[in-house]
Amino acid sequence: MMNFDVLTIFPEMFDPFWAHGIIRRAIEHKKIFTSTVNIRDYARDRHQVTDDRPYGGGSGMVMKPEPLAGAIRAATRRTPTAVTVLLTPQGRPFDQNMAKELASFDGLVLICGRYEGVDERICHDLIDYEISIGDYVLTGGELAAMIIVEAVTRLIPGTLGGENAAENDSFSNGLLEHAHYTRPRIFEGREVPEVLLSGHHQEIERWRLESSLMRTLLKRSDLLHQKSLNRQEIEILDKWRRKINNIIELHHKKDAE
Ligand code: 6GU
Repeated sequence: MMNFDVLTIFPEMFDPFWAHGIIRRAIEHKKIFTSTVNIRDYARDRHQVTDDRPYGGGSGMVMKPEPLAGAIRAATRRTPTAVTVLLTPQGRPFDQNMAKELASFDGLVLICGRYEGVDERICHDLIDYEISIGDYVLTGGELAAMIIVEAVTRLIPGTLGGENAAENDSFSNGLLEHAHYTRPRIFEGREVPEVLLSGHHQEIERWRLESSLMRTLLKRSDLLHQKSLNRQEIEILDKWRRKINNIIELHHKKDAE
């Protein structure tokens, strides 16, 4: 059972998120438990202010420490084993390995910061992880929190249709997904690769690995640098290398003539 507590000044943004698709199913099947906490509820002043002007001057506002601290402490009291995660563009870049790491905890307290920032004393004292979802600017961490909830939830056994569907996904093996086809067999004159209709399970698996490798090489060759390759994968890459070499040699010979 995974517990997600989201701390935000826009709790309504999460209502449709909890209510659809795999998240909804995971909640219904008690695979995850979710709550949205309005940080404003922990502001003590009459107008329930959650941000203030920065010391030292400048534009933009800073999230005040007291309401955030109150909201974080209330959440960790409810789930003492939970880890706290601040969503901030200054955090560690989120990837599939981090999703796996987060899925191993039984509670995440996701704190949606706003872009200008959170008082430094919060970051320092109450935060276990600082995570960014990529190098671009968002006004608040809300969308980032949803992305993390989705990526972590689909790693929890029993949350996807096919039980090991997550195992076959892009990135879980360090490669992009192979090409997919469905009916009709001929669409606008273009046919489905013959091998996929053959019923030869081994040949289909080999074709899919080849498709995965080729797509990864063409679209995301950086992933191949990070990945450790097995014998079969090296064999496939070597086959292409020899094909490419043959073509180049042929052209050299023609030039020499
Ligand atoms: Cl986690 N928060 C904000 N505000 N901006 C971001 C981000 C997070 N990740 C990338 N940009």
